[in-house]
Amino acid sequence: MTAPDSTVSTVKVLFVCLGNICRSPSAEGVFRKYVVDAGLESRFEIDSAGTLDYHAGERADRRSERAAQRRGIDISKHRARQIEPHDFERYDYILAMDKSNLSNLERLCPAAHRHKLALMMSFAPALGDEVPDPYYGDGTAFENVLDMLEDACRNFLTHIVEKQLLASLKA
Ligand code: 4NP
Repeated sequence: MTAPDSTVSTVKVLFVCLGNICRSPSAEGVFRKYVVDAGLESRFEIDSAGTLDYHAGERADRRSERAAQRRGIDISKHRARQIEPHDFERYDYILAMDKSNLSNLERLCPAAHRHKLALMMSFAPALGDEVPDPYYGDGTAFENVLDMLEDACRNFLTHIVEKQLLASLKA
């Protein structure tokens, strides 16, 4: 992955899973919370999408909504959407929840933008390499997803801030 151009005023981040109703809206909510808490909201554009269109237009899974709410994160406004071709051009970072999502993205993504793709858990590798799909799991699966996403999103934000700072010092 390459750091975004420091002259661009916003860093655009897209989180991707299969259905866009469990993991990626949760990642979006967690990351947005950290960005807002850091006072950096105006410097980011954050969204999420699924590789499937099956749940397009739906709210997040209620189990994800409730688990996020318990951590002070409101994802009730989320509406699922499928990834679109122009997303690959628009976003600076496109983070996949698991390897299957990543290989779907690699298949769809034009070569010129493939450096933007990465696994979410590459930012917290000690916790595993994939965010497991909680859809057929129990309540603990949804808590586990949030535990993993909190670590990965915290490290990801630190990574971006450090890259941007270094780029601005060099400019
Ligand atoms: P997500 O979870 O990819 O984290 O949103 C899933 C949601 C729906 C399905 C699978 C995974 N599904 O098969 O409908």
